[in-house]
Amino acid sequence: MSELKRSFEVSMQTLLQRIAERSAHVCVVGLGYVGLPLAVEFAKAGFRVTGLDTDTERVAGINAGHCHIQDVSSLELQQMVESGHLQATHDFAVLRDVDTISICVPTPLRKTKDPDISYIISATGEICQRLHPGQLIVLESTTYPGTTDEVILPQMQATGLQVGKDFFLAFSPERIDPGNATFHLTNTPKLIGGITAACTEVATHLYEQIIATVVPVSSSRTAEMVKLLENTFRAVNIGLVNEVALMCARLGLDVWEVINAAATKPFGFMPFYPGPGLGGHCIPLDPHYLAWKLKTLDYRARFIELADDINTSMPHYVVTRIADVLNNLHKSIKGSKILILGVAYKPDTNDIRESPALEVIRLLCDKGGEVCFHDPYITQVDIPGLEYTELSASLLQWADCIVITTHHSTYDYDWIVARAKLIVDTRNATRYVKEGREKIHKL
Ligand SMILES: NC(=O)c1ccc[n+]([C@@H]2O[C@H](COP(=O)([O-])OP(=O)(O)OC[C@H]3O[C@@H](n4cnc5c(N)ncnc54)[C@H](O)[C@@H]3O)[C@@H](O)[C@H]2O)c1
Repeated sequence: MSELKRSFEVSMQTLLQRIAERSAHVCVVGLGYVGLPLAVEFAKAGFRVTGLDTDTERVAGINAGHCHIQDVSSLELQQMVESGHLQATHDFAVLRDVDTISICVPTPLRKTKDPDISYIISATGEICQRLHPGQLIVLESTTYPGTTDEVILPQMQATGLQVGKDFFLAFSPERIDPGNATFHLTNTPKLIGGITAACTEVATHLYEQIIATVVPVSSSRTAEMVKLLENTFRAVNIGLVNEVALMCARLGLDVWEVINAAATKPFGFMPFYPGPGLGGHCIPLDPHYLAWKLKTLDYRARFIELADDINTSMPHYVVTRIADVLNNLHKSIKGSKILILGVAYKPDTNDIRESPALEVIRLLCDKGGEVCFHDPYITQVDIPGLEYTELSASLLQWADCIVITTHHSTYDYDWIVARAKLIVDTRNATRYVKEGREKIHKL
């Protein structure tokens, strides 16, 4: 056996053993919605975990046991910090000591809707300065096919270390659905696509320690593409039902009745529901990563473009609906008192990123509406002059029009409708309300 092959097997076997024994030092880079739950889960499994984040306030908060993510229990976080299993830092020097690194940094879009992978590149640069034999690096951030092998791998190989021999590199997309009470990190199957078979094997071994089902795929590119298929599938289907909502409005039909009736078919149909537009950090953004990559290969991703057109036009449609229902009462948006209920992008979370409610509010303010909002989970919104208001009977009676933009389950819709003058319900949140239905106008 050659010297090189023996040293490779030693570093791989050592790492596999350290993982199995839970003596591996695990690092998670980026402690947000994705990274913090992951870090806590590794810590709960008995690993020594260091979370690395450039946000010093976030780091201090985590070390003090304060949790900023709804899906992570503050008690568990505190226990992990107090037991010494989890600590956070902003000092990249720790990368010299760790055995595994999971990268969970943001992947936003530029203003031009092109991918911004600068956070990945910056984190990779820090890792490359400290890369050493026997380390596993897993990228979890959503990105376009080719990022791991075209962007990260060359930077790492430039250190002189060899992938699959000295260090191991894989892509494993995060699939968490914040606020989902049934599926969470440990029971959602996890895909792993390594650069080499050895990379897949080591990464699979690591994630099997905390996740019930790990699904290896043939390459990092395949894993990157699977994630974008999943999110493009949602964006396109939501675009389809949003267009069906526009069609049903013209036909005088209730789109929710149509969808729910179609959903009684036990095969070949999966219900998606319309709304005021797309929100969150994933579905509105990720398909653009795929479309951009295809553009570099001289291919236009037409479904993605069309779905984006329809989904981004929905806040405008909602405002047209509000104008129409006010008009029927001889009122205009200008000067009307409008209460927005729910600004999170989806029910029962405090995540406001890309929320379509914000666009609805901006458009209403532009048209001279007197707008205020309530959300059980959010009290601050970055729109000048827009104020959070406590929900009360007098607030409901004050509003000329109430717009339900997020269907939080904590709202008592019977109570709301009973006190409202007029409601535009963009989510069919009031479906079980029996009294006062004449005041409700659906999308
Ligand atoms: N939020 C979701 O539901 C979700 C689901 C699946 C996938 N994703 C993907 O996961 C990735 C992370 O998303 P998120 O929602 O956790 O983002 P987030 O903004 O909540 O957290 C990212 C964290 O990374 C930190 N950070 C930024 N640059 C850094 C650097 N160079 N080094 C260390 N830390 C750095 C930030 O300070 C922040 O705390 C994105 O690619 C996203 O598309 C998100």
